[in-house]
Amino acid sequence: MIVVTGATGALNGATVDHLLKRIPPHQIGVSVRDPARAAHLADRGVRVRQANYDNPAALRHSFADAEQVLLVSSSDLTADVVAQHHRAIDAAVDTGAQRILYTSAQGTAFDTPYPPLAIHAATEQHLEASGVAWTALRNGFYGDPTQLLGAWQETGVIAMPADGPFSWIDRRDAAEAAAAIITAEEPHEGPIDLTLPEPVTLADFAASASEITGRQIDRVVVDDETWVSDATASGTPEAVARFTLSMFQATRSGHFSGSDPSLSRLLEREPRSITDQLKGLVVR
Ligand SMILES: NC(=O)c1ccc[n+]([C@@H]2O[C@H](COP(=O)([O-])OP(=O)(O)OC[C@H]3O[C@@H](n4cnc5c(N)ncnc54)[C@H](OP(=O)(O)O)[C@@H]3O)[C@@H](O)[C@H]2O)c1
Repeated sequence: MIVVTGATGALNGATVDHLLKRIPPHQIGVSVRDPARAAHLADRGVRVRQANYDNPAALRHSFADAEQVLLVSSSDLTADVVAQHHRAIDAAVDTGAQRILYTSAQGTAFDTPYPPLAIHAATEQHLEASGVAWTALRNGFYGDPTQLLGAWQETGVIAMPADGPFSWIDRRDAAEAAAAIITAEEPHEGPIDLTLPEPVTLADFAASASEITGRQIDRVVVDDETWVSDATASGTPEAVARFTLSMFQATRSGHFSGSDPSLSRLLEREPRSITDQLKGLVVR
């Protein structure tokens, strides 16, 4: 059995959907915080059990009989997330999992300007020390492009802090690749980078947006502190603005400039490009 946490979330929910295309439902279990939100999976024959990363006994119950456990990275902003991940890993080890997979991120390292990367590094270190085989799915960035680009459709400009190259993958591709890795005959050992074939910059987004809309969309670089002040003036909490700024700062220092063919290989096609992803957004 494969047990997946975070299956009521966007990424691992989509991973479970892809697993259901590859293996029978009785071979899949999900560990969710709110089983009512996984009723659609129970209806299809998936085992649904309740747990969160703060409850080791419930985690062990959720992970029972699992050969592989896929752990989502926690999104609990106020919790000690590294401790949560350690608890989840320990529970998977205790229940006899033979492989633990974890949704990590490209560029994972302790010493970077972008805080989540150190959380992933500490989690991967605990996986390495666990004595159990492990795989870290080091996804490129993904999410709502509007949060990355701002209100460019209204303003005609992508006005953000200076950036450097990074991968912006489609979450659907990350999920499909995760399912391929989990069900592969040959397991992948350790970290795997799931990125675009070539990294992109916000200037590339502007070029794509111009091509799709037929309008000129310009990339405008905004000074860091001016950008934080503008964001807070329009209602973004300063901590959130500074967190986003740290992402741009990390792209500038080249932390996300690498690319890897693994995502294309696993999908057996090119990953969705930024143009593909923007097309879904454009209001005509
Ligand atoms: N690489 C990137 O660019 C990127 C972007 C966004 C997020 N992330 C990270 O990747 C993860 C998955 O992304 P996503 O888009 O699927 O996010 P999402 O839609 O917010 O889903 C997160 C899932 O994790 C579950 N979860 C969070 N904290 C938990 C805890 N303490 N115990 C048990 N379950 C917990 C949530 O449970 P509920 O359904 O009960 O809330 C939810 O199902 C996020 O949690 C975040 O850490 C990475």
